[in-house]
Amino acid sequence: MTATVRFEPITAAIGARVHVDDVLAEGVPQQLLDALETYEVLVIPECGMSDETFAQMTAKMGEMHDLGVTAEQGTRQTDAGIYRIALDKSNEQQREFIRGNDFWHMDGTVYDTPGKATLLKCERAPAAGGDTGFASLDAAWRALPAERQAYLESLTVRHAFRAVGRKLYEAPTDDQIARWDAFFPPRDHPLVWHRQSGKTSLMIGLTAYDIKGMPLEEGQALLEELYDYVTQDRFTYRHKWKTGDVVMFNNPGLLHRSFPYDEASGRLMHRTTIAGTEATV
Ligand code: OGA
Ligand code: MN
Repeated sequence: MTATVRFEPITAAIGARVHVDDVLAEGVPQQLLDALETYEVLVIPECGMSDETFAQMTAKMGEMHDLGVTAEQGTRQTDAGIYRIALDKSNEQQREFIRGNDFWHMDGTVYDTPGKATLLKCERAPAAGGDTGFASLDAAWRALPAERQAYLESLTVRHAFRAVGRKLYEAPTDDQIARWDAFFPPRDHPLVWHRQSGKTSLMIGLTAYDIKGMPLEEGQALLEELYDYVTQDRFTYRHKWKTGDVVMFNNPGLLHRSFPYDEASGRLMHRTTIAGTEATV
């Protein structure tokens, strides 16, 4: 017998709360995966899931992704394949990485196949700040006029880690830029990604650096304009964390971000990811 899962939509454009007894029950991981494509963001409120169940659920939904790159940044992966997301005084590079999360982004844009889903489990809700925001790229795309869509479809965007540095530092040094470029070499994507699901994503966000064949400032101005457009309230859901919440999101369909918090807030997330199966080109 297939276990029942109930999805309760959060807003008209995005998000659903999930009511389920056993996430590992036969058929449930597949139902969650299917729902992820429909709702983009799934919230299992205050379920207090163990790390073991969290990792098993992730593995049942796809290939659990080993983010070696994140480990290099100082975010240790546990044996169960879980990363710890917290501000940590002791590691400057990790802080850069985590601080970057405060800007709207898609995970994995420096690969040609961005991750399929990212899962966050709230170990300790922040005392203040630290919500997570999600913006539906497909809802934003569908609301654009046809001529605008056609124009954007003709463009190629370059993603590079130096774009992150540009947000975090007012005047990055050549050394810093070289380090970022070595860490994540720039990668081209079509600005408009028509996905197999029939949905469409604009490949923008934190790591988008410039538009191919366009003067730097002009390309960056266009990227900023699109960034502001897709992150309007009407396309977004902002999750306020409670300890024990699990949120999974359809990474290619969204921009997401954390809202600022400081170390003293105590915010601690456990994170897993599912490897992508669809390249942008
Ligand atoms: C991430 C991320 C946001 C958050 O882990 O990829 O963007 O709110 N996290 O912690
Ligand atoms: Mn992220």
